[in-house]
Amino acid sequence: MARIYLSPPDLAGTELDLLRDAVESNWIAPLGPHVDAFEAEMAARIDMPHALALSSGTAALHLALEVLGVERGHEVWMSTLTFAATAFATHYVGATPVFIDSELVSWNMDPALLAEGLDTAAARGKLPKAVIAVDLYGQCADLEPIAVACRKHGVFLIEDAAEALGGTYHGRPAGSFGDLSILSFNGNKIITTSGGGMLLGRRKEWLDRARYLAMQARSPTRHYEHAAIGYNYRMSNLLAAVGRAQLADLDRRVAARRATNAAYREAFPQWTFMPEAPFGRPTCWLTCALVETSRDAILDRLERADIEARPLWKPMHLQPVFAGARAIGGGVAERLFAHGLCLPSGSSLSSADRTRVIETIRAEDHAHR
Ligand SMILES: Cc1ncc(COP(=O)(O)O)c(C=O)c1O
Repeated sequence: MARIYLSPPDLAGTELDLLRDAVESNWIAPLGPHVDAFEAEMAARIDMPHALALSSGTAALHLALEVLGVERGHEVWMSTLTFAATAFATHYVGATPVFIDSELVSWNMDPALLAEGLDTAAARGKLPKAVIAVDLYGQCADLEPIAVACRKHGVFLIEDAAEALGGTYHGRPAGSFGDLSILSFNGNKIITTSGGGMLLGRRKEWLDRARYLAMQARSPTRHYEHAAIGYNYRMSNLLAAVGRAQLADLDRRVAARRATNAAYREAFPQWTFMPEAPFGRPTCWLTCALVETSRDAILDRLERADIEARPLWKPMHLQPVFAGARAIGGGVAERLFAHGLCLPSGSSLSSADRTRVIETIRAEDHAHR
C-alpha cells in the first residue's frame, strides 16, 4: 500500500499545457508572461490591487518587513503558534520577534492580548514596528480587532496567509487584510508551484520597492547600478505556469479539504477539532484536533501504517532558537501543541485512503480501551 502523506501536491491536469507554452515561448527566466498573468489572476482572486510572485513565502515575508522599514532595534509581534518561517524573517532584517498566545475561538493570535499588549507598549514608549497575524491551518485570525489595535497605534499589519489561500473572513478573501499579505505555494500548500510565494498589497510604492529588491536592486540604467542591497527572489516563468493551472482549480481543492474535515469530525465525535470560528470560512488546509490521552500513540500507529500525521506547530516561544524571546501569554498554544495532531488532508486524498486513516486510528483507540 502506498504511503499516505499529510498534504501532498495535487495536479489540476492543465499544468503540462501551460508549461509547454512557457517552454515553447523560451521564457525560461524569473520573469515572463506567466509570471505577469499569475500575479494578475491572484490579485483578482484575493482582491488586492498589487501582487509580486516570488521564490517562496519566506522571501515574501522578508520583503514585506524590508519595505515597511523594519530593521535592527525594532520589535515584530506575531502569533507564537505558527511555522518558524514567520519568525525567521524577522531575524533576516535584524529585528526582534515577540510571541503572542492563541485564543480558543480560532487557535490564532488572541486579539485581546494583542490590544492590551500594544496599549502597555505605547505607555512604555516602545511599540513594535509591525504585527504579523497568521491564518493558521487555513483559518483566518480574527483580523478586524487585530487591524483596529494596529491602526490605533500606527503599527503595520502583515497577514501571513501562507496556509489560508481560498479561506474567507467575514466574506472577504484571506490575504486581503493587512498593509501587506503573503502566500506560500510550497509543495504541501493548497496550490503549489513546487516552491514559491507571493506578496500582495494595496500601496503600489511598497510593491514596486519589493519588486526592485527582489531583482537584485538594479537601477533602471544601461549598466548595472545598485543603490541598495538586493535579492534574487523572483518566481520562474515555468513555475508561474504551474501556479496558474493550480489557481484555476482552487475551489475544488477547498471543497475536497473541507469534505475530508467533515468526514474526520463525523468519525471522531469524541475529539475537539479546530473550531470553525463564526467570523470566517476556513479551507481546512490541514484537519487538526486535540486528543486528550493518546496523541503520540495515535501518531506512532499511523506511522507504522505508513500514514503521515504530525503534532501541531511547536509554539515559537518554546523553540530552542528563540530561547529568551519575549512571549505574551503562551499557555493556550502550549496546550494545543501538547494534545494536537494534524491528519492527512490533501485535496487528492481518496475516500479509500481516508477510510484507511480512520480505521487505523480506530484500531488504536480500541487498543487503549
Ligand atoms: C504560516 C507560514 N508562514 C510562512 C511559510 C513559508 O512559506 P514558504 O515555505 O513558501 O517559504 C509557511 C509554510 O511553509 C507557513 O506555513
